[in-house]
Amino acid sequence: MTSVCSVILAAGLSTRMKSKTSKVLHDICGRPLISYPVETASKICKDRIIVVRAPHQNDLAEYLKKKGIEEAVQQRPLGTGDAIRAVEKNLKGFSCTVLVLCGDLPLLREETLLDFVRSFESKSCPVAVLTMVPDDAASYGRVLRGADQSVLSIVEAKDASAEELKVKEVNTGILCFRSDWLFKSLKRLTNDNAKGEYYITDLVGLALSDGEAVYGFRGDPADDFMGINTRADLARAAALMRRRINERHMLAGVGIIDPQNAFIDADVKIGMDTTIGPNAILLGQSRIGEDCTIENGVVIANSVISDGVHIKSYSVIERSVVMKNAIVGPFARIRPESKVGKGARVGNFVELKKCEIGEGAKANHLAYLGDAVVGAHSNIGCGTITCNYDGFSKFRTVIGAGVFVGSDVQFIAPVKIGRGAVIGAGSTIVSDVPADAIALSRSEQKILKGAAPKRAESKANANANAKQKSGKKINKPAKAKKSSAKSKSGGAKSKRSK
Ligand code: UD1
Ligand code: CA
Repeated sequence: MTSVCSVILAAGLSTRMKSKTSKVLHDICGRPLISYPVETASKICKDRIIVVRAPHQNDLAEYLKKKGIEEAVQQRPLGTGDAIRAVEKNLKGFSCTVLVLCGDLPLLREETLLDFVRSFESKSCPVAVLTMVPDDAASYGRVLRGADQSVLSIVEAKDASAEELKVKEVNTGILCFRSDWLFKSLKRLTNDNAKGEYYITDLVGLALSDGEAVYGFRGDPADDFMGINTRADLARAAALMRRRINERHMLAGVGIIDPQNAFIDADVKIGMDTTIGPNAILLGQSRIGEDCTIENGVVIANSVISDGVHIKSYSVIERSVVMKNAIVGPFARIRPESKVGKGARVGNFVELKKCEIGEGAKANHLAYLGDAVVGAHSNIGCGTITCNYDGFSKFRTVIGAGVFVGSDVQFIAPVKIGRGAVIGAGSTIVSDVPADAIALSRSEQKILKGAAPKRAESKANANANAKQKSGKKINKPAKAKKSSAKSKSGGAKSKRSK
């Protein structure tokens, strides 16, 4: 192949998207729209990729800069023929095949593009167009062919006659040019058409008038060339892309129970013999190992899940690591910068934040562990909370290995618990606990013998009095007043009755 330079047009106004964000930066399966044509183009043209943007697209400018992608700026949206003029400076003195794509073609396949460019280069045409036959030719430019199948012209829907509109083959928006011919011919484009724009497609007519032929390469299936104009298009393309992603994983040995309802982003990696349940959502740069089970409704974002891990239903894991054979959930929430150790267990309604759970450690029920370290094989009882925030700053709780924490314990951070210590249930731990010690902080338990029935009676009386005051007829229990007075001094009226 001669050198190929790819020009990706993205300077259109995209009014139909109805968004403050540039159309080509909208997300599709975890990446901005434009990243797909850029990636596909980069596989076949190693030389140069130039994105044409509009001056107001600051978000796009920032994205291109971050990714190190060359840009050209089209000052005013005067049409696709004008947009290509913007790269003339970039390509000055560079003799190449210019492959023109649109920034909104996420489903384009590398193989198709390669075939197209190769076929173009094997002909001696200055222009080639990649065509398709979609179910609905809608507003696409119609491709008119001669008896020898060479392309005679591309007529935009708005400029087409009723007869031309019946043509089913249309322009995908992907074209190839010989650079010398292209830049020489651009000057000859006019905007004498229904939209008052300079059409890149008019270059076909100019080639013919130069006595050259134009090659039409039919691409298939049409879905691969679906352009995104509205949010509805975006959702349709995302559904098609998800199907491709899921097929790819299944062919690589990943079990997907309900492929129509598994939402896996483009860059997610999944190992063999892992099973993905219905409505699982795997996002961003997540990596899932082999032999894992990801149950229904699980959300995993930008996390690393090692081999043999079991994530049970409705758990949410963000920017964290789960080591080999650990079990998480159901209903666990693992917030960023957490690490669940090998074979560890994080059960239902347990929230971790910046928390490291050691190998084989367990936090099985109802706990908040934030800014904390839990040593290997420690056990965190139900209802345990690391009180990491004093309203101003965050503090750490460090729990050593082999510690047993009873239920309903609060650690007032910063606090350190030595290895092998035991923390009694219901304790509020405010200072460090040495290794192998038992720490307990509970108020003494009182027993008031026989106080319970008296308390019940006084309650009933209080209710009766209240109702009488409010004017309702009720049957007053006997001895009401007396016992009510007694029960007040009885002291069994505990906080619990509140
Ligand atoms: C264009 C084609 C049409 C084809 C269709 C495929 C022309 C004249 N028409 O129509 O034959 O069937 O694509 O989707 O080319 N753009 C700029 N600057 C501009 C105008 C557009 O950069 O001044 C960019 C857009 O951002 C977009 C691409 O060019 O990425 C196509 O523009 P769009 O307005 O969508 O063209 P269509 O009317 O769809
Ligand atoms: Ca379009």
